[in-house]
Amino acid sequence: MQNSSIPPITQAFQFVGGFALTQAAKAFVELGIPDFLKDGVQTADEIATHCGTHPETTFRFLRFLSKQGLVEIDGKDCRLTPVGNFFRTDVPVNLTKALQIATFEPWQQVWANLGYTLRTGEKAFTYVHKQEPWEYLSEHPEYGKPFNEYQTHLSKMGAAALVGAYDFSGFKTICDVGGGHGYLLKTILEKYPQARGILFDLPPVVASADLGAAAGRCEVVGGSFFEKIPAADCLILKSILHDWSNEKALDILKSCTASLNPGGKILVMDMVIMEGGNPMSYFYDMHMLVLFGGRERTQEEMTELFGKAGLKITRFIPTQGPQFIAEAVLK
Ligand SMILES: C[S@@+](CC[C@H](N)C(=O)[O-])C[C@H]1O[C@@H](n2cnc3c(N)ncnc32)[C@H](O)[C@@H]1O
Repeated sequence: MQNSSIPPITQAFQFVGGFALTQAAKAFVELGIPDFLKDGVQTADEIATHCGTHPETTFRFLRFLSKQGLVEIDGKDCRLTPVGNFFRTDVPVNLTKALQIATFEPWQQVWANLGYTLRTGEKAFTYVHKQEPWEYLSEHPEYGKPFNEYQTHLSKMGAAALVGAYDFSGFKTICDVGGGHGYLLKTILEKYPQARGILFDLPPVVASADLGAAAGRCEVVGGSFFEKIPAADCLILKSILHDWSNEKALDILKSCTASLNPGGKILVMDMVIMEGGNPMSYFYDMHMLVLFGGRERTQEEMTELFGKAGLKITRFIPTQGPQFIAEAVLK
């Protein structure tokens, strides 16, 4: 991001040292420093004792982090800043799991091959790992398990914002397509007792579904959205279409068109690329591209894509989070 108060050479250098910031934030979280600082000031020596780290090195590390805005240092006293606070594990909106996933070795290897994506327009994931990303995650539970937990964590952060932004009272059946372990669906069913739910995702993913008290009103179905989606009055696709190219996203939308009950609605929840919009959407546009061959889209691009699937977008609804809800009906 451009900041005119920082000399251009210093701004340029941020790209050289940027990799170290991610690793430093990872160590900050793994050592439990943000959680240790949640109640206020601790000295660098106290932090070192708590973490079992080398005292002088710990001080130098904290001094480095203070220049990145994660902590403030006064002599040997150290406190968390509002930015550092997002790396505590006990606050509802935190980035600890995002950091864990971003620093996965296989993810880093994919970004190291960005050049392949830029030359071909194709995801680097399959080029690097010789396997499709979703198969890879299924076959490597050491990455797949934390990845799915991260999706649940994201749903926890986003569910309230999404449920707060849309009225589900008119639906008898709601299917969360690619719904992961079911956190969003559970949240909706708890608020809307008239509705029954269907959690739909790949079989290994729904095997760990957790619908809590809503389980009695919810069917769990394993399958692929490229084949057949269960019929429902409302089909939710949260953080799904952005994983896929236009061609594949169109196939998913066509599956939705085929199984939507008459008079039903499709709700797509994704970020939207727009002037003055959330800067995160530009990062995720690239991140989805290198990992999954996916993309974030503008409203115009979504409207065109839905149109090809026989759908009409009726509204784009902002939420309190970074995502919008695109509501669509059959044309
Ligand atoms: C980015 S996650 C989003 C999960 C959930 N909707 C959320 O927002 O937390 C994408 C989901 O799509 C699922 N998925 C991938 N390929 C699929 C397929 N062919 N059929 C059904 N689900 C699939 C994944 O297992 C994963 O749960």
